[in-house]
Amino acid sequence: MCGIVGYVGPRQASDVLLGGLARLEYRGYDSAGVAVVSNGELDVTRRVGKLAALSAAVAETPVLGSTGIGHTRWATHGRPTEANAHPHVDCTGRIAVVHNGIIENYMQLREELAQNGHVLRSETDTETVAHLVESYYQGDLATAVRKTIKRLDGAYALSVVHLDEPNLIVAARKESPLIIGIGDGENIVASDIPAVLEYTREVLALSDGQVATVTASGVSVTDMEGNPVTPEMLHIDWDLAAAEKGGFEDFMLKEIHEQPKAIRETLLGRMDAKGQIQLSELQMTPEQVASIDRVFILACGTSFHAGLVAKTLIETWARIPVEVQTSSEFRYSDPIVDDETLVVAITQSGETADTLAGVREARLRGAKVIAITNVVGSRVTRESDGVIYTHAGPEIGVAATKTFTAQIAALNVLALKLAQAKGVMGTERVTALFEELSRIPETVEAILADLSAIDECAAEYTDVCSSLFLGRGIGVPIAMEGALKLKEISYIHAEAYPAGEMKHGPIALITPQVPVVVVATQGHTYEKVVSNIQEVRARGAEVIVVATHGDDEIGRHAEHVLYVPATAELLSAIPATIPLQVLSYRIAKLRGCNVDQPRNLAKSVTVE
Ligand code: F6R
Repeated sequence: MCGIVGYVGPRQASDVLLGGLARLEYRGYDSAGVAVVSNGELDVTRRVGKLAALSAAVAETPVLGSTGIGHTRWATHGRPTEANAHPHVDCTGRIAVVHNGIIENYMQLREELAQNGHVLRSETDTETVAHLVESYYQGDLATAVRKTIKRLDGAYALSVVHLDEPNLIVAARKESPLIIGIGDGENIVASDIPAVLEYTREVLALSDGQVATVTASGVSVTDMEGNPVTPEMLHIDWDLAAAEKGGFEDFMLKEIHEQPKAIRETLLGRMDAKGQIQLSELQMTPEQVASIDRVFILACGTSFHAGLVAKTLIETWARIPVEVQTSSEFRYSDPIVDDETLVVAITQSGETADTLAGVREARLRGAKVIAITNVVGSRVTRESDGVIYTHAGPEIGVAATKTFTAQIAALNVLALKLAQAKGVMGTERVTALFEELSRIPETVEAILADLSAIDECAAEYTDVCSSLFLGRGIGVPIAMEGALKLKEISYIHAEAYPAGEMKHGPIALITPQVPVVVVATQGHTYEKVVSNIQEVRARGAEVIVVATHGDDEIGRHAEHVLYVPATAELLSAIPATIPLQVLSYRIAKLRGCNVDQPRNLAKSVTVE
C-alpha cells in the first residue's frame, strides 16, 4: 500500500524522504517519487519500480532543499508508470501533492478541472488534488487545502507543498492514516510510524477532517473549517531495532521466530489470582457479557482464518453460535446483526478498508463491536466500542505470521472469557485451559528449535505447480492458512479443503505431482483424517503431515512428518501453524522469491 513521508527542517529533505520511504517499503509499492523545494524550484523525481531506482536518480542529480514530500505508490487508479507516480503537480508546477487512499469522485473533478482549463497529465485520482489546490490558492496553502478536501469524496491522507510557501507542508486526512513525528527543530509527516522513528518518538496522530500546517518549528492543526483543534499525541515505545531484521535473513523469518514472545505478551495479565479471565476491553458488565447469545466475526485473509479458529473455540467452550464472514461480503450482505450481537472485527493492521466498513455497518445496526488489532491508534481502534490488542510488535513482512498466532492467542482468551461469563465452564477448567495456553509459547519455541525435517521436506517440493491442504475441525482453518501462506509467498497454487469434502470434487486433482499437506494432529477426528490420507495416497499423492509427537504410526502413511508437541485439541491451532509457515517460507526462498514483499500484495489494504 502507498506510503507518505514529508520533511521540513534543517537536513537535506531528500535524505530523510528516501530513508523514511525505505522504512515503509514493507507496505508494498510499484513506483516512488520525491518533490523537494530547492532554490526557488520544485524539483520532482519519480521512478517506476523499487526505491533503489529513485535513490539512483536522486544521487545522479542531487536535489538540495530542506522541505519536501515523498511517496511510494501501489497502483489503484492508473498503471504503475512514471507519469502516474506521485508526487503530482499542478499546471504551474509550483504545487506538489502526495496522496494515499482513493478519491471516489475524481472523474467528475477531472472533467470540471479540464473544463476550467487545467491540463491533467496522469491517469490518477490524486492529480485532481494538485489542480484543485491550484484553483483555490490565494496565498495561503492551508486554506486552499481545506477548500480542496471539502470537494473530495473518498479516503485520503495528503501532504502538499507550494513554492510560494517554501518552508511548510500542509497535511490532511480522512480514513487513511497520517501522523506527524515531532522533532527538535524539524517535523516529519508520515503514513506510518517506522518512517519517523529515526528522528523522534513523539507523534501527533491526525484525525479525520483535520488539517495540519507543519513547519520546522511547529505544527498547528485545524478542523476543515479552520478552527484550531488539539490533536492526539502518542509516545511510541518501539525502537528502530524492533522494526529491523535482527540478524535474520528476512523480516518474515524474524517474525516467525518472534511468535513465542508475541503470544506470551498477548496472554500477559489475562488471568487473575482467582482464576477469572481479565478482559476489561470488552467494556461490558458481567451481565452484558453473560447475555451475549450470538457472535459475528468480520475479517479478511489471514485474520479471517483466525476468525474461523475462534468460531470453533467459542462454539465449543462457550456454546454461543458464531458466524464468520469476510468483511468484503459482510458490508454488502444486509447482515443480520442487532444490539444482541457481539461483533468481533479482526484486523492486524487496523486499517483494512473492508473490515472498517463492516465495523461501521455493524454499529449502525446497533451491534457492539470489539476490534482485535496489533496497531495502537489504528483506525479500527477509533471506530470500535472496545479494542483487544495483540502484542506482536510491528510486523514488516507482508505475509502475516506472528500477528496471526497472536490473534489466535487473544481469541482463546475471548472464548474462555465468554465460557466463564456464561457459566458454561467452571473456574477449574478455565484455569487449566489457560495454563495450558500459557505453555504454547514454549511449544512454539520447541518447534522452532529444530527445523531440519521441514528443510528436508521443502527441498523436495520446490518445483511443484499445485498443492492441496486438508484438515478437519480446528485443522481446517490451519490448512486454509497454510495454503494461503504457500500461495502468497511462493506463487505455488494451493487450495485448502475440509478433508472429508475432498472426495466431493477436489480428489480429481490428485496426481503424484500434486502434494497433499494434511493437518493430522491428535483430536477427535484423527482416525477420519488418517482415512482421508489413505484416500489421497491411493491416488498417487505424496503426503506431508503435521502430526503430534509420539504418533509414530503416521509415518507409514506419509512421505514427510512434521511433528509438533502434544497439546489439548483446541489449543493445537498455533503449534500446527508453525511448520506450515516455515514450510512455505523455505519453499519460497528455494524458489528465489521475495518473501517479505510478495508480488501484487500490500501489508495493509486501505482501499476497497
Ligand atoms: C496474508 C495477509 C492478508 C491479511 C489481510 C487482512 O498473509 O497478510 O491476507 O491477513 O489483508 O489484513 P488485516 O489483518 O490487516 O485486516
